[in-house]
Amino acid sequence: MSTKHLVALLNSHIDGDEEQFLSIALQVAAQEARQGRADEADKLKRLVQKARDRQRGGRPAGGQTPIPLARPRGELQGLVESSYPKIALASMVLSDDVRARLMRVVRQQQERAALRDHGQVPTTHMLLVGPPGTGKTMTASALAGELHLPLFTIRLEALFSRYFGETAGKLRLLFDQIAQTRGVYLLDEFDAIGARRGDPNDVGEIRRVLNSVLAFMEEPNTTDSLVLAATNHVEILDEALARRFDEVIEYDLPDRAGARALVERRLGKFKMSARSWPSIEMKLDGLSQGELVRAADAVVKDAILEGASKVSSDVLGRALQNRQTLKGKFRR
Ligand SMILES: Nc1ncnc2c1ncn2[C@@H]1O[C@H](COP(=O)(O)OP(=O)(O)OP(=O)(O)O)[C@@H](O)[C@H]1O
Ligand SMILES: [Mg+2]
Repeated sequence: MSTKHLVALLNSHIDGDEEQFLSIALQVAAQEARQGRADEADKLKRLVQKARDRQRGGRPAGGQTPIPLARPRGELQGLVESSYPKIALASMVLSDDVRARLMRVVRQQQERAALRDHGQVPTTHMLLVGPPGTGKTMTASALAGELHLPLFTIRLEALFSRYFGETAGKLRLLFDQIAQTRGVYLLDEFDAIGARRGDPNDVGEIRRVLNSVLAFMEEPNTTDSLVLAATNHVEILDEALARRFDEVIEYDLPDRAGARALVERRLGKFKMSARSWPSIEMKLDGLSQGELVRAADAVVKDAILEGASKVSSDVLGRALQNRQTLKGKFRR
């Protein structure tokens, strides 16, 4: 058996992809047969058959074995959220550039065995930067959804507030527990590290946390997990950290066309006629994707409850205006 086959076998084992595992075993059987070792080939085929029979007796045939979610126990509980998101990148409204870059990451991950055969590794570390509500967290869900991987979210600010003084230790425990599982890891509120620098209560805490995160990012990523860090403020990040990322993806508020596309998609069958748009278009300006979605959802709910078949420009205009007013009140 070639190293290539062994690597592929191990990869499918790590992924918990039993189907892939068995199909590689069959490839090895075919190779044995080609080289005149019919007995060995038969033995392998029988074993694969046995595994398939057992599979059918137990779990539904054809499905992937789910990856067990690492559930941190005891005091680590609540510091990491795990989920299996189902959303796809196609459901996001993105600039062509951002979409292309995310698709490239997905492709590299999907075909990582081929990359590794040539001594290359897929992109694993990405920094997502941009204002609130522009789709950073949603991107993490969509990448997990596309790759059928669990999403583990670690909120750094929450960790700091709960365990100030021992954040680094907790973080290390968490990293150790989850590093064995292939998944998408989202280090959310990543700027918490930068923002807390200069904190008078800090007695080396930030330095230790930074070292812990750096170590996590430097560890050999044998599972090809995706590590994403999201932040609103790139400027306060440590340079040593920023250098560790393979990709930095910038998110921004949508332009008018993007905002309109997002709202129209969200309105679905309640979409208003194209003629009505010019009168309210300027109310889209300056709102984030998150705010636009909320405004659209609010009017759709009203439409449903009132039995309306379409949303009127008046109603949508008012909902957008409400969002603008709210934004004005809370602007920092
Ligand atoms: N590009 C997008 N396409 C479609 N919907 C989006 C997009 N971006 C954001 N949304 C909508 O806005 C909501 C909020 O977005 P999200 O939580 O991803 O923002 P964020 O960038 O992580 O913000 P924060 O910095 O506050 O954490 C999403 O749940 C989704 O409904
Ligand atoms: Mg977020």
